Amino acid sequence: EKDGYEYFMLKEIAEQPRAVADTLRGRTGTTGEITLDEVRMSDQDFRDVDKVFIVACGTSYHAGMVAKYAIEHWTRLPVEVELASEFRYRDPVLDRSTLVIAISQSGETMDTLMALRHAKTQKARVLAISNTVGSTIPRESDAVLYTRAGIEVAVASTKALLTQLAACYLVGLHLAGVRGVKYADEVAAVVAELSATPDKIEQVLAAMEPVRALARDMVDADRALFIGRHVGYPVALEGALKLKELAYMHAEGFAAGELKHGPISLIEPGTPVVVVVPSPRGRSILHDKVVSNIQEVKARGARVIAVAEEGDVVVAPHVDHTVFVPRVPTLLAPLLAAVPLQVFACELAAAKGHDIDQPRNLAKSVTVE
Ligand code: F6R
Repeated sequence: EKDGYEYFMLKEIAEQPRAVADTLRGRTGTTGEITLDEVRMSDQDFRDVDKVFIVACGTSYHAGMVAKYAIEHWTRLPVEVELASEFRYRDPVLDRSTLVIAISQSGETMDTLMALRHAKTQKARVLAISNTVGSTIPRESDAVLYTRAGIEVAVASTKALLTQLAACYLVGLHLAGVRGVKYADEVAAVVAELSATPDKIEQVLAAMEPVRALARDMVDADRALFIGRHVGYPVALEGALKLKELAYMHAEGFAAGELKHGPISLIEPGTPVVVVVPSPRGRSILHDKVVSNIQEVKARGARVIAVAEEGDVVVAPHVDHTVFVPRVPTLLAPLLAAVPLQVFACELAAAKGHDIDQPRNLAKSVTVE
């Protein structure tokens, strides 16, 4: 049951450190090899892969977008990510050396299942990432990695997302491992960093009171924009999706670099803009670019809320509110940055008086196309 939480969503947000730890447990070897739950593919099959497609819907699609950055970087395989509902209608180029990764919490999403079946007609191999043991998508796949989030009751997905991200990282590391790793040191370091993320998610959760207060303060807002770059872009999309689902607000996520190509005209004095800021370390060019995007929206009067890395002293003076999250390697940052956006949407929707666990018009498992 709800264990004293007012909503299942709050309980599930709080369970995320445990859910991610469970999903990682016992699965990571030092060179990145992982143990899949069901494998009807040999290591040679994995080595023969020359292209990866990721198909999923909604929040699971956002996990897939993050996975694209990670898998391409670690394996040097080309990865495409596509909404499952679009995939088969455009005649994608697939063959027996294509690996299709189907991500589905429920394992029953019809759009994703139909994409998987289409991939199989083209002889592609299919690997499922799912939270539901024995569901249709894992049953029809060649290989399966289960997330161990436990049952997710709230319609809006939270712990499923974080465990999907963890599973996607494992798959990327696995592919890198079986295929021979280009960035061997980096991959080994990532495995260690990944194991440390549950504690860091816990730290994020412990610092959420200001985010709740901010959300309550924005109860009258009727729209919000979310921007990010690199893996911060899918996090922005996810933040916007949560707000749409729960608070019934018009919320949109953009790649920050696209602002100047159109969306910046939406900014009026007071428009809330949530910015997912990349780490200032290493890829600092990315950080610089996001800081200039912040300046662009600020100059037009936006109310800017930044999710930034602890110790980022550059961002704070440019924004109205900063939410700090612990340091992690860039590719893993979505595991932390998504959390404040979940809390924000949940609290704002609650302040608006909406049903948190059962938003209008939505179903937990979408079994129609
Ligand atoms: C968003 C949400 C949906 C699901 C989507 C895919 O909070 O819950 O967008 O992520 O319907 O569902 P699965 O992962 O079960 O295929």
